[in-house]
Amino acid sequence: MRKILAAGNWKMNNTPSQAEAMINELKGKVAGCKNDVLICPTYVCLPAAVKAAEGSNIKIGAQNLHFEDKGAFTGEISAQMLKEIGVEYVIIGHSERREYFAETDDTVNAKVIQALKYDLIPVLCCGESLKQREDTITFDFIRSQIKIAFRGISKEDAVKIVVAYEPIWAIGTGKVATSEQANEVCKDIRECLAGIYDEETAANIRILYGGSVNKDCAAELFAMSDIDGGLVGGASLKPDDFSIICNA
Ligand code: 13P
Repeated sequence: MRKILAAGNWKMNNTPSQAEAMINELKGKVAGCKNDVLICPTYVCLPAAVKAAEGSNIKIGAQNLHFEDKGAFTGEISAQMLKEIGVEYVIIGHSERREYFAETDDTVNAKVIQALKYDLIPVLCCGESLKQREDTITFDFIRSQIKIAFRGISKEDAVKIVVAYEPIWAIGTGKVATSEQANEVCKDIRECLAGIYDEETAANIRILYGGSVNKDCAAELFAMSDIDGGLVGGASLKPDDFSIICNA
């Protein structure tokens, strides 16, 4: 049985003190929540976020990591550093990182492997552009992202990974994919995973939808057969809205 995960990706928003205040506000609102709750602030907010979330049901994740253990990689953050400060999850391969920071399917794969090596749960992002959807290559494109991202990963590790399907055209645009559109891609991702591993493994991997998820559409999306929660940007910056999503 897959547990719903409501994950907030704060992107480049909030300072450490704002992060602390927002998590303190959210804590009470999601205290009785039966779904898993995750907040992913920026690196500099992580220690404050971990401290504020202590003793609550809110988990903390990073938005990126480097794929090497350590070394001459100016400006980068390692899995070990994240682990030591109490981070449990890490977003990998968000489309904004692929677009603005030249991440490739290969670096995404290396990062997923690195996260697993340090017991961090990867939230692995995939998703097509509007052009790709119009060219009717959505399924092929996402299958290729998934196949490369899971390359070299055992099925014991694969079930730890959370996949987030985020159509690029739906991110920050207010244009949510319909539940059917989102579900058919999530279902295809699961079929792709069943092809790589087996039905049982695929059935145990959580697949989230992301892209303009809000308090009004979350419940319908999360009720779909192959959608196991959401990766939420804008609405996760509003504790009232995000708590409604968490409780959806
Ligand atoms: P929005 O919810 O703001 O569209 O962002 C989605 C997203 O990119 C989450 O990672």
